[in-house]
Amino acid sequence: MRTYARITGWGKYLPEKILTNYDLEKMVSTSDDWIRSRTGIGERRIAGEQESASTMGTEAARLALEMAEVLPHELDLIIVSTSTPDNVFPACASLVQNALGATRAGAFDVNAACTGWLCALAVGSQFIANGVYRNVLIVGSDVYSRVLDWSDRNTCILFGDGAGAVVLQASDVPSGPLGFVLGSDGAGGVHVYAHNYFGAAGGRPHKGRPYLEMNGREVYKFAVKVVCEATSQIVAEAGLKLADVDLFVFHQANDRIIRAAVKTLDIPLEKVLINLDVYGNTSSASIPIALCDAVERGMLKDGSRVVMVAFGAGLSWGASIVQWGVREEAFSPARQAFSPNAIPVMESRG
Ligand code: UT7
Repeated sequence: MRTYARITGWGKYLPEKILTNYDLEKMVSTSDDWIRSRTGIGERRIAGEQESASTMGTEAARLALEMAEVLPHELDLIIVSTSTPDNVFPACASLVQNALGATRAGAFDVNAACTGWLCALAVGSQFIANGVYRNVLIVGSDVYSRVLDWSDRNTCILFGDGAGAVVLQASDVPSGPLGFVLGSDGAGGVHVYAHNYFGAAGGRPHKGRPYLEMNGREVYKFAVKVVCEATSQIVAEAGLKLADVDLFVFHQANDRIIRAAVKTLDIPLEKVLINLDVYGNTSSASIPIALCDAVERGMLKDGSRVVMVAFGAGLSWGASIVQWGVREEAFSPARQAFSPNAIPVMESRG
């Protein structure tokens, strides 16, 4: 019998400090009107001095564990997706493991920028599907405020800090992530870029601290294309139609990217979660925070089918289709009507 990785708990953490578009008007040559009309973003959260990817990730994880009623020592594995880790090493996942007291858990980080949390979800799900582990924590946490050039209006207006987490638990009932699409086009890596701390061969020459550089127009075109393609692909591979999906959670980078994809795919906007107006782009945390907000808004319920699509630096992208539900009784036979081919699929294109 196949084992599924059911999502049984979720949590988010957003730092207290809010940076509004009006605050940004005082820092760079921009306006609330420009930012809202070009991105949909109104404000974002900024981590405090004592906060980091690991501290925020730990807070989100605590909430997810509490909801799942899983004790830290029951965790088998912790995967943290981040591209702004506290240190080069140790991994953020080890810091989270220690802070939680998850004494039995293995721990490692995944970095695929904004696509990273979906990659971490894919990896964690495989460990459950193949019977190796029963309780896995998947965290997405990023502090882009620390890698932004606050004098560059092209980039500093887009991002915010935050964390989100889910608990995956082994289940016999078809539930949790039922398929994955993962893609990479490394040739486009130049379009979103942050060098590392030690000027490795192959990196760009640089001075000072790492900061994010971006060719916004190229990323925009890439994003609309992959959101449409990955959505269609994951739904088709599950043997479903777009109309069978209850909720679409796309990476929260730009309202215009989401709306362009929605138009091309011809899906109703009511089925699309948008929270970038208050958080901006939180990179790895974007999708898990959006899942939490979808539940809070009543858009995601036991039995819902949700499609998630992320994209970002790499260039990279990922998608998954999830049968949502904490309680086993949520899964009526009708809601389990996935194609037998809808096994977790790992795919990479260079
Ligand atoms: O996780 C993935 C991360 N990245 C993304 O998702 C980014 C994807 N790209 C985008 O979201 C959009 O391309 C941006 C929001 C970054 C830019 O929007 P755009 O409509 O593509 O603007 P643009 O780059 O074509 O710039 C238009 C103008 C330029 O002025 P000129 O050259 O036409 O005189 C920019 O200098 O807008 C100017 N501009 C700004 N003006 C006011 C750029 N940023 C700002 C700003 N405020 N913050």
